[in-house]
Amino acid sequence: MRTYQFPLDLVRERPPERPVALVRPRSVSVAARWFQDNLKADVFYAVKANPSRWVIETLIDAGVTGFDVASLAEIELVRSVSSDARLAFMHPVKSRSAITRAYFDHGVRTFSLDCEEELQKILDATGGADDLNLIVRMAVSADGAAYTLSGKFGVSADQAPSLLLSTRRAVKDGLMGVSFHVGSQCMRPSAYEAAMAQVGRAITRAGVFVDIVDVGGGFPSVYPGMVPPDMSEYADAIHRGFNEMPVSETTELWCEPGRALVAESSSVLARVELRKGDALYLNDGSYGSLFDATHSRWPFPTKLVRDGERSAELKAFQFYGPTCDSIDHMPGPFWLPADIREGDFIEIGMLGAYGVAMSTGFNGYGEHEVAAVEDAPMASLYGLAPRSIPTVRTTAEEQARKIVRLSRPKGKAGQRKQRRR
Ligand SMILES: Cc1ncc(COP(=O)(O)O)c(C=O)c1O
Repeated sequence: MRTYQFPLDLVRERPPERPVALVRPRSVSVAARWFQDNLKADVFYAVKANPSRWVIETLIDAGVTGFDVASLAEIELVRSVSSDARLAFMHPVKSRSAITRAYFDHGVRTFSLDCEEELQKILDATGGADDLNLIVRMAVSADGAAYTLSGKFGVSADQAPSLLLSTRRAVKDGLMGVSFHVGSQCMRPSAYEAAMAQVGRAITRAGVFVDIVDVGGGFPSVYPGMVPPDMSEYADAIHRGFNEMPVSETTELWCEPGRALVAESSSVLARVELRKGDALYLNDGSYGSLFDATHSRWPFPTKLVRDGERSAELKAFQFYGPTCDSIDHMPGPFWLPADIREGDFIEIGMLGAYGVAMSTGFNGYGEHEVAAVEDAPMASLYGLAPRSIPTVRTTAEEQARKIVRLSRPKGKAGQRKQRRR
């Protein structure tokens, strides 16, 4: 992988034909260090967030040894980098052959489940192995998360005690655990504490001993309009929640962060193929790395990467991707210099999680180049850049603010208000 100091250096050297994932491995190492230093938990990186080989290699170099894998392909990927990484197959629904191959060919010992049928399947597919670690996934409320992850998976609170009991009985020499997912991009640290209290009640009702409490993923990143609380608040909430749980001193705490380890590490360099008024047609889109810009309407931060003068005036643009599908539209608003034109390159930031990972080959697009860059990410929760992305005010909004300022009440009430500022 070639390394450039700035994205502009790449554009100057050779304007790329395909979109380029601009990656910052150092930012992954810094995020990994935060988890290792601040959360008293074993870290299992959720590979699905960004299954790039450089991410796995960087995490292993940074001392992360655990990986949450969702498929045989992810298992093979991690194994191709490390023969001794700890793999946890945390997809609650797996094929029999995937379980068998994971166990016998790749040394996977940890499997999650959320029903009796999956428990039986895991036992059958591993020949009743006595060294399995079995983790029961519980559904919990997703308060304050952008994406809820309890709709499809997770045993309900009323059915959990009986599943916990049968899983405890099925575990022989391995460990028995319980996991949950508070939802992705969780903006409320208290959601972890609430989920742990809910899981604790199920453990008490089941009357079982639990070896592992796995708080899943959900740790946030920074996006326009979304500045999460300080990461230390998440660590504090989880430690408080763990202390209150009916578990013992030997119970292990695990976590499966995806987004928070990789989101700030990558941006995408896309080219403007055509401009029609405020619409920019790009060579990347919702079938590429901009899934969330379409489906969640996230207005990712943008920068013009042009060698030369640009208009000082910023304008709000919408993007269209390269496929022929009308869904391939990113409403934004994306703020860019008013004179942007065909052939310009745009860096779209904060796309390290669920960005390139979501790319498809629809319409023959979706292939990316990868290049490393040494500049800072557009925002950072780990001190590498500002914690928030500045919001651009439209002229209409500015006008509205001026009107509010001008219409401040006169007399004593107005003076009082003025003093308080
Ligand atoms: C089982 C499991 N663990 C961890 C994650 C990672 O979640 P996040 O990226 O929100 O940290 C996911 C995401 O879907 C998941 O399904």
